Amino acid sequence: MAVKKENMENAPVSIVLKELYDLAKDERQQVTKKAVRDWLAKLKEVAYEVEDILDEWRTDAFRSQRDKDDIHFGKKVHPYLLFPCICFKKVESRHDTGHKIREITERLNKIPIEKSAFNFNEGNTWEGKSSSDIEQRQTGSLIDKTKIFVRDQDKESIVNELVCANGQEKPFSIVSIVGMGGLGKTTLTKLVCNDERVIKHFKKIIWVYVSDRFDLNQIAKKIILSMSGSSCENLDFDTLQHSLHEVVGKMQFLLVLDDVWNENHSEWEKLKVPLNGAAQGSRIVVTTRSRKVAEVMEATHIHNLGILSNLDCWKLFTYEAFKGREEEKYQELTEVGMEIVHKCKGVPLAVVTVGSLLRHEKKKLDWKFILESEIWEWKTPKDEGMLPSLLLSYYKLPLHLKPCFLFCSVFPKDHNIKKDELVKLWMAHGIIKSERAEIEEIGEKYFDDLLTRSLFQDAQEDDSGNIIQCKMHDLVHNLAKFVTSSAYCIKEIGNSNLCSDSSHHLSLLVNYDASIIPSLMCKRLRTLLLFGPSRIKEGMTVYSII
Ligand SMILES: Nc1ncnc2c1ncn2[C@@H]1O[C@H](COP(=O)(O)OP(=O)(O)OP(=O)(O)O)[C@@H](O)[C@H]1O
Ligand SMILES: [Mg+2]
Repeated sequence: MAVKKENMENAPVSIVLKELYDLAKDERQQVTKKAVRDWLAKLKEVAYEVEDILDEWRTDAFRSQRDKDDIHFGKKVHPYLLFPCICFKKVESRHDTGHKIREITERLNKIPIEKSAFNFNEGNTWEGKSSSDIEQRQTGSLIDKTKIFVRDQDKESIVNELVCANGQEKPFSIVSIVGMGGLGKTTLTKLVCNDERVIKHFKKIIWVYVSDRFDLNQIAKKIILSMSGSSCENLDFDTLQHSLHEVVGKMQFLLVLDDVWNENHSEWEKLKVPLNGAAQGSRIVVTTRSRKVAEVMEATHIHNLGILSNLDCWKLFTYEAFKGREEEKYQELTEVGMEIVHKCKGVPLAVVTVGSLLRHEKKKLDWKFILESEIWEWKTPKDEGMLPSLLLSYYKLPLHLKPCFLFCSVFPKDHNIKKDELVKLWMAHGIIKSERAEIEEIGEKYFDDLLTRSLFQDAQEDDSGNIIQCKMHDLVHNLAKFVTSSAYCIKEIGNSNLCSDSSHHLSLLVNYDASIIPSLMCKRLRTLLLFGPSRIKEGMTVYSII
């Protein structure tokens, strides 16, 4: 069958791309609905097949052009004269390609029909989320004094920062608490606000839950209401700014802006101008997952929140899981409980979520079941638990950083991700889009951006202070794996079924001689990374199978 180039390059690919583009607009369904995830995986598979066929087609065209040139310039006797079978092979290959295209076109035609079953709502991005989503995350300054709390050292450090004399001459200064989702930024801030020294030091403590909608009117209104006791509905922003300027000068206050995502400096300026009239020595505490937010707000002190110690995790866990039980009854659960806590990797949200899940499980067997269960990998998206909270970090990534982040799920957990290697991999996969020459610098900036958003951690610098490598927290790695589904795969060598057909990116953990790597069963493999002993080659060898 003769295959026309236009057939290859126009119709099918454009349909696939259009479908993918439409889906990108309905982000939450893509991530949380199993049927949609499966359908999307199918769609991606077709897109990859199209890419492969185009690749074969280009290679064929290149070869025949080269052969023609060779004959034209009399470089050699045409091989068809010597080996007619080569000529037949060529015809066969075209027939083969034509057959594949026909098959793929049929599959592509079904895609829009299948899609209509999902009832996609275009524009349903995280930005367009309902107010109930925000209400669910809403916070306030009150704490439940019957609960136990940890992080005494962090609390001391922030309280000292707030009540110390430094910066008293300025109208206000900003302390920002930065860390990944669920690390305890809000809880720590509550503990600070409820500390006697803080309560005594400030005439007023105002708590505003900001969320990812940096709504200046709402923030201004809440501050005015808190400071003056009068509500100011129906005022335009100019009047609000003046009222705000007036009230903040009356007394020294502590303003908490919890859960800030705004990285836009001009938005912050609009609030900052009236706040410049604040009574001297006032303070603002900003909690955020992004260091960039803290920098945009010109925080004078950035407190990078670390993970909890094992002991603190254990304290929190026992409180949640053993609440109301007699001590001798849970002795037999201690060992498996410690293993479960270890899996939480110092994130209080994980500790508290799993602890409360186990409160009603009384048998060791049930605890073991949870230890080995899929909740850690989030194979099944649920509305409760820690996944929705962490997913926010993914939803809030700008479009260009999403594939960069997801690609990192190809690395094994706890791996030191080297910046230059990762940037090269991104480039090889065409993930970094740029018309300009400095594509490598752009990749490096993307890497730094993921770090500032707390999706990377444990940054290491070279002698000149440049960041050269980072790690991903286990839960963040799970998050990336959850979103990418089976496209990324990590296997230890020794498994008979090395990787499933649907894997596009594969990491092999090699524990012994690399010469016995078995043949791979992946039709659409784009990346193969090897990790293992130094004799394989300085820890990592990268092969591109494209
Ligand atoms: N110091 C702590 N002591 C006791 N429990 C804690 C502590 N820190 C966090 N937690 C528990 O972990 C959960 C998550 O903490 P928190 O909401 O403060 O995290 P966060 O860093 O503000 O998350 P996000 O980025 O989603 O806003 C809380 O509900 C609380 O139960
Ligand atoms: Mg918070």
